[in-house]
Amino acid sequence: MQNHSLLVHKTNLYQIEQQHAEVPEIQDGEVLFKVNKYALTTNNITYAVSGFKLKYWDFFPTEDPWGIVPVWGFGEVVASKHPDVAVGERCYGYFPMSNYLCIQPSKINAFGFSDVKPHRQALAPIYNYYSKVAADPSFKTEVEDYMPIIKPLFVTSFLIYHFLLEEIFFSAEQIVLTSASSKTALALAFMLHKNKAADQKAIVGLTSKRNIDFVKSTGYYDQVMAYEDYPTELTETSTVIVDFAGKTEMLSTIGTHLGDHLKHIALIGITDWKSMRGFKGVPKAEFFFAPTHAQQKYKTWGVEKTNLLLNTDMVHFIGDSQQLIDITPVESLDRLGELYLEMLDGKVDPKKGYIVQIP
Ligand SMILES: NC(=O)c1ccc[n+]([C@@H]2O[C@H](COP(=O)([O-])OP(=O)(O)OC[C@H]3O[C@@H](n4cnc5c(N)ncnc54)[C@H](OP(=O)(O)O)[C@@H]3O)[C@@H](O)[C@H]2O)c1
Repeated sequence: MQNHSLLVHKTNLYQIEQQHAEVPEIQDGEVLFKVNKYALTTNNITYAVSGFKLKYWDFFPTEDPWGIVPVWGFGEVVASKHPDVAVGERCYGYFPMSNYLCIQPSKINAFGFSDVKPHRQALAPIYNYYSKVAADPSFKTEVEDYMPIIKPLFVTSFLIYHFLLEEIFFSAEQIVLTSASSKTALALAFMLHKNKAADQKAIVGLTSKRNIDFVKSTGYYDQVMAYEDYPTELTETSTVIVDFAGKTEMLSTIGTHLGDHLKHIALIGITDWKSMRGFKGVPKAEFFFAPTHAQQKYKTWGVEKTNLLLNTDMVHFIGDSQQLIDITPVESLDRLGELYLEMLDGKVDPKKGYIVQIP
């Protein structure tokens, strides 16, 4: 029994290595997860790109100069030295690109527990929480593979939607989403589309030429345009931009194009990480970090209400996703390495949803 991991060089993201190590031995108070399956999307590439700045390398540390990119997925407890966590408990949460993970559970209740290993204590609590699959009302076996792909991204989009709503959309008439084909953008477009009758906002998608047909086919956007075409096609009206792409120069140019019509830019992602130059010169731009907004929502709405609203919308979006996204399995560490490198270079087909399951 060995623990197989994919390692990424922290300062040269193109350098990868496989690690085959002993499975960690658990101590009193700890449990061992066998990582069953997890998703890989551009979001994980962003974890690597901002690994130092946002501390993503700190979750599952290994020997320098290597790092392990975190992923969202399912794990099953296969050994336990904790009296309140039983072998066989299946959980959803944050895992390394490995097939085993040792954690120290605490704050255990009917729904889940948190890892309180010392090195994770300074990191955002949402990433340290493992929810019990058996107690999750939104979990359905028939769409299980969609959960790790959609859930972490949908949470973000749900929070962005409610942030915009609370800000009364910064008085904007249109909401422009960049990297409109990304799953996180699609989830926000779904929320905007679903609430369109009440909000009355035009939903505009900006994407690559090759992805225009796919983005149109979702039916969520009122208007879809290629990055090259926004100077002529973008209506000059009050606008909020929700940026998933990180194309710094393009944001500055749109800002100039819109002038006073630009009300706010929410900086969410950096799918096009190579064109990112820093956001200092970008007008009215503010970072949106989902874990911080999640903590705020839990405080103001309470955990129960937040999860109920979130799960209700997410179940609908997962229903839609079955039509839009094809589950694509990844079954070896070699293929995972290739896929990671393809994604790093933006060779991403938005119609595919990768689920990694390595025996
Ligand atoms: N702030 C937060 O808390 C938070 C939370 C969740 C996600 N996010 C961010 O949202 C972004 C989207 O993540 P996702 O997992 O939803 O992505 P995804 O579904 O894998 O997105 C794929 C799309 O991203 C664009 N893309 C990917 N790689 C690219 C590259 N190298 N160069 C240019 N374009 C590229 C392409 O879209 P187009 O052709 O349409 O541009 C592609 O179709 C990520 O940056 C992620 O980190 C942020």
